[in-house]
Amino acid sequence: MPRLIIISNRLPITIDKKEGELMYHPSAGGLATGLSSLDESIEKLWIGWPGKAIEDDWEQAAIKNDLQKEGLIPIFLNQEDIECFYEGFSNKVIWPHFHYFTQYTTYNNTSYWEAYKKVNQLFEKAVAENYQEGDIIWVQDYQLMLLPAMIRKTFPKASIGFFLHIPFPSYEIFRVLPWRKQLLDGVLGADQIGFHTYNYMRHFLSAAYRISGIEHNFGKMVVKGRMVNVDVFPMGIDYWKYAKHAVTLDPRDEAFKIERMARKKTIVLSIDRLDYTKGIPQRIKAFENFLETYPEYIEKVTLLLVVVPSRSNVDQYQELKAEVDSLVGRINGLYGSYDWSPIQYFYRSLPFKVLSTLYKVSQIAMITPLRDGMNLVAKEYIASKEESEQGVLILSEMAGAANELTEALIVNPHDSDDIVETLKKAIEMNSSEQRWRLKKMQDGLKKYNVKNWAENFIKNLMDLTQEQKNSEVHLLNKETAEDIINAYKNTSQRLIILDYDGTLMGFQNDPQAVVPDEELLGILEELCADSQNKVVINTGRDKETIGKWLGHLPLEFAAEHGVWTKKGKKWVKNPGLRNGWKPDVESVLESMVERTPGSFIEHKDYSLAWHYRRIDKELGAKRIREFRDVLAYLTSNLDLQVLEGNKVIEIKNAGVSKGQATLGWSNAKEWDFIFAIGDDHTDEDTFKALPETAFTVKVGDAKSAARYNIGTVEHVRSLLKLFLEK
Ligand code: UDP
Ligand code: G6P
Repeated sequence: MPRLIIISNRLPITIDKKEGELMYHPSAGGLATGLSSLDESIEKLWIGWPGKAIEDDWEQAAIKNDLQKEGLIPIFLNQEDIECFYEGFSNKVIWPHFHYFTQYTTYNNTSYWEAYKKVNQLFEKAVAENYQEGDIIWVQDYQLMLLPAMIRKTFPKASIGFFLHIPFPSYEIFRVLPWRKQLLDGVLGADQIGFHTYNYMRHFLSAAYRISGIEHNFGKMVVKGRMVNVDVFPMGIDYWKYAKHAVTLDPRDEAFKIERMARKKTIVLSIDRLDYTKGIPQRIKAFENFLETYPEYIEKVTLLLVVVPSRSNVDQYQELKAEVDSLVGRINGLYGSYDWSPIQYFYRSLPFKVLSTLYKVSQIAMITPLRDGMNLVAKEYIASKEESEQGVLILSEMAGAANELTEALIVNPHDSDDIVETLKKAIEMNSSEQRWRLKKMQDGLKKYNVKNWAENFIKNLMDLTQEQKNSEVHLLNKETAEDIINAYKNTSQRLIILDYDGTLMGFQNDPQAVVPDEELLGILEELCADSQNKVVINTGRDKETIGKWLGHLPLEFAAEHGVWTKKGKKWVKNPGLRNGWKPDVESVLESMVERTPGSFIEHKDYSLAWHYRRIDKELGAKRIREFRDVLAYLTSNLDLQVLEGNKVIEIKNAGVSKGQATLGWSNAKEWDFIFAIGDDHTDEDTFKALPETAFTVKVGDAKSAARYNIGTVEHVRSLLKLFLEK
């Protein structure tokens, strides 16, 4: 097993200073508690911030020494870093924004952004100092989104994972951030990118496509020629740690007192960090609403409200603290009696023993965040019920955990009446229903615990690294490119077949932008200037367009997927083509255009194409699915074929293809070098038509009949330029 380097902003241990003395506490929060429970058998190194500004050199050295024994490497942030990087960019920009609290996002503070870059760079330096070849690097969470790309720059071959512990917002929210591209590019420096839920993954993929034009195939994408995998890994918990822990019987313990109290009242437990995303005021108000609606429960039910201090220097957290204090005071004042307070309120971090007892003795847990990446408290509560088999979880549908804990009573955290009714249902739920609901959720949590979560992530990352290595043979790299260049240089009868769109020119929304640019014209001109080359453009475009753009060069052409060819001065039509079918098919395509603004029909001499390159790819694919049956019915009767290309579907006479056109050249004489390159399905016919010795190259990472894959149009041009180097 390779060594694992975990990098997170917060270390699992936080430092405190009391009367000049250093104290170490376990950190709160899902990331730290979850990752701390990882398997001991993996050799780990954990780089992160110990949670306090320590500027004294001597103290830094002492801390370094203490933490080193635990495999922890501290990153020391100064007061300004804490204000601008941690409280600033991390918690006043990304945190609120990614949780859909855009009203709290600070958009215009450049010093926050500068500090974010600076501190990410500081982490990069620490990684560079500790990295050994073969290590697996695993970057955690939103505070370090630039780090994967920074590490990639220093160690291009490193195996880098990134996991986001908070939601990734929908593209419409993400796009609002002025630094969206930099954040995205930073994360894309990783090989594997993980999220808690499919929705977060979907949002990320959509942002990658819309902001950087990167497409994916079932979560796999090619970023600068490197394969990247995006996937869902819902984080689990250390199940047996919570399931096994016995209730304390020592009367001096806080846990003992809680246990006694729970015997007299129904306890509804609420535990969160003090955070506006957790919906604490809404939950308290819903509890008040419950007492008002069902007064028979007054003095019988207690809300045990545990609020763990968090980010207390950030304004919104201070305001929230004041709001919670005042709500609790008001409700307790209104409903409380001499021996009962409706809300028992604790504003502190609890030791594990107390926390675990609270989970065990509470009949109900009410966890209703307005947004939450996962929420581990909900899972810990369920695990704690392993022995008693009694307990009900009320869970917000906005928590990532709701995707897995489907037998919880799921509520909308904004709907107070929904919470009231659900709370009543929970109190009245019979034991057998409680038992089966718990059992189902416990089975899932046992199977997919935190150890499996990490192992799965790491195993997938290692498999990916292997896949990258294997596919390097295919992915045209420096060495394989050299083979092609050498073959080119040592031969004199060369056939070069080039697709146009997506190969020589990138896809653009603006049709004018696909007109060949100076660089491309220069490359083609030089290729043609060598009398030992026969250069053919094999395109789906109509002959007029391609003729207008490139006709002045001594190239040969196949246009409209082999309908027309031009080997001398004149275009020659493929014999046996008919056009009588066009009106019927055209009317189907017109309805597709009507239903899909932004798409358009291209009329070619012997074919019709429906393009959706200007609209959302998924919408285009959906339309094709809807109309596929109608098109199949029409085309099968008329001896036509339907070709699905890159954001285009084309209908044309059967038996005519780029492959058939290719044979016209490849069979014409004994070539000693054949090279063909293209990007979509229609180019597969070209690759298949050529002998195995031909150098065939597919643009993009999709599976192909070609011998090699190459990343992008820019790579294609670089390769062609290498042909021309003397
Ligand atoms: N927790 C803690 N001390 C406490 C209360 C809770 O360490 O006093 C832990 C809790 O056991 C859980 C984590 O903090 O593992 C909270 O994680 P969660 O995913 O629920 O929310 P987050 O704080 O990460 O937003
Ligand atoms: C969430 C975040 C973590 C963070 C934790 C506690 O779980 O995803 O990255 O560590 O909250 O927040 P803090 O700001 O105290 O580290």
